[in-house]
Amino acid sequence: MWTKDSLKKVIQEKLGKDHKLILASNREPYIHEYSGTKLNWSRAISGLTIALDPVMQTCNGIWVAHGSGDGDQAVVDKYDKIKVPPDKPRYTLKRVWLTKEEEDGYYNGYANQALWPLSHIVYQMPSFLPDHWEYYKKVNERFARAILPEVKNQHASVWLQDYHLTLCARYIKEASPDTKVSLFWHIPWPNPEAFRICPQKKEILEGLLANDLLGFHIKYYCDNFMATVKTELEAKVDWEDFSITYKGHKTLVKSFPISVDAEGIAQLASSAAATKRVKNIPQEIDPVYKTMALSIDRVDYTKGIIQKMKAVDRFLEKYPKYVGNFIYLQLGVLSRIRIKAYKQLIDDIQGLAGEINWKYKSGAWYPIVLVNKRIDYLAQISYYRAADLCLVGSLHDGMNLVAKEYIMANTDNRGMLVLSQFTGSARELKDAVLVNPYDLDGFARGIRRAIEMSPQKKREKLKKMKEVIGENNIYYWAGQFINELVKL
Ligand code: UDP
Ligand code: G6P
Repeated sequence: MWTKDSLKKVIQEKLGKDHKLILASNREPYIHEYSGTKLNWSRAISGLTIALDPVMQTCNGIWVAHGSGDGDQAVVDKYDKIKVPPDKPRYTLKRVWLTKEEEDGYYNGYANQALWPLSHIVYQMPSFLPDHWEYYKKVNERFARAILPEVKNQHASVWLQDYHLTLCARYIKEASPDTKVSLFWHIPWPNPEAFRICPQKKEILEGLLANDLLGFHIKYYCDNFMATVKTELEAKVDWEDFSITYKGHKTLVKSFPISVDAEGIAQLASSAAATKRVKNIPQEIDPVYKTMALSIDRVDYTKGIIQKMKAVDRFLEKYPKYVGNFIYLQLGVLSRIRIKAYKQLIDDIQGLAGEINWKYKSGAWYPIVLVNKRIDYLAQISYYRAADLCLVGSLHDGMNLVAKEYIMANTDNRGMLVLSQFTGSARELKDAVLVNPYDLDGFARGIRRAIEMSPQKKREKLKKMKEVIGENNIYYWAGQFINELVKL
């Protein structure tokens, strides 16, 4: 099994002791924010940053990211850098500053209203505004300018993350052609039919093909990317060694299913602190219950929160013996709230929960409990352990780490995962109860199957899923990526 130490060893042996790994993403791993006059810091809530932070803690590299907290400027040095984690410094975070207009055009605009819906295909129309695109280009250049001084005269490689930074490799290569640049795409890559509507498709593909290595979660997204390039550009697409040669430059395309710190989660979940917390959970929840289904999601239209609520409604209609004793606890922070589709979603979720609760409410019991606030990590792991089942209903999700976290936190081996078949995780977690979140009857049956599965069967299935996640943990994932990088 891969550990922090095996990753450290691979990095030192393969990249060399003096090698500098420069990672860049839009979202920063740690955010400083004022609460009144007090300056606090917190971990960002993002699958990307939560997965990569333990990797960077092992590598001692530099992480370049947008400084989005209102207290971020107050704590950096004159090079815009700060050592993180703030309580146990292990690597350097270099913050990039954006104006409100840039953040709006590049992040709320092009990244999250064009590329995010375009890649997920969940019937949310992408909008490609020329102004947003201009800001997107400008900010990608800004990121490249923040990265370049870090690679100058160094034995270094750059590891870009996600759909916010599709043009960055091109700008870096123009200034520093010998620097190895790679990008990991954390969301789905759509099929060529869906991608072809993008007015900036040529620039985006050219930007991505400036990378030496491109990683996706699963082979299906690699296939889609290769097919998209074949359709849109005059490039040599080699399906044998999964590479693309464009204008004389070769890019390797490979799948690397991202994961979690499996051991770390299992250890925390079985700690005395978590055991104590688990016992208190029923008192923390308003309605009294016998069976608790848990979901933890950023409030995002790709996560299928509306579909989960409708499936719970259907489940209670079909199987009335659960009325009065089953609850669905939907935990999670609000996300991207300046974007209209996200504001609308918050209203829709509140409205539907109100209707369903009104339909079933009896005495002090009601079925849907919405909690839109951040909970601390120990509480989160304890909730996973306490839940009888976890509902992951994404309409489309590159991977979904919540599914893997839930399995690893299940130290009593009594829970079960109901997992959308449209997540990257469903490819690995074949022992979960797989459902189609668009099929309400099927989803409702899946909930019942998960609850009524025999304890013995649950234990067997959990054991198998834990083995899969334990083997392919986050250190293994990073190790595989670095192995490929070295081969280039
Ligand atoms: N998460 C969290 N609090 C929330 C929602 C999510 O801590 O309110 C964490 C969750 O535990 C996971 C990550 O954020 O580690 C979300 O990753 P995932 O791949 O499931 O989805 P994403 O939000 O990145 O699309
Ligand atoms: C997804 C994306 C990440 C992003 C995260 C949270 O996981 O792939 O790039 O960081 O969602 O979204 P946010 O917009 O808050 O960074």
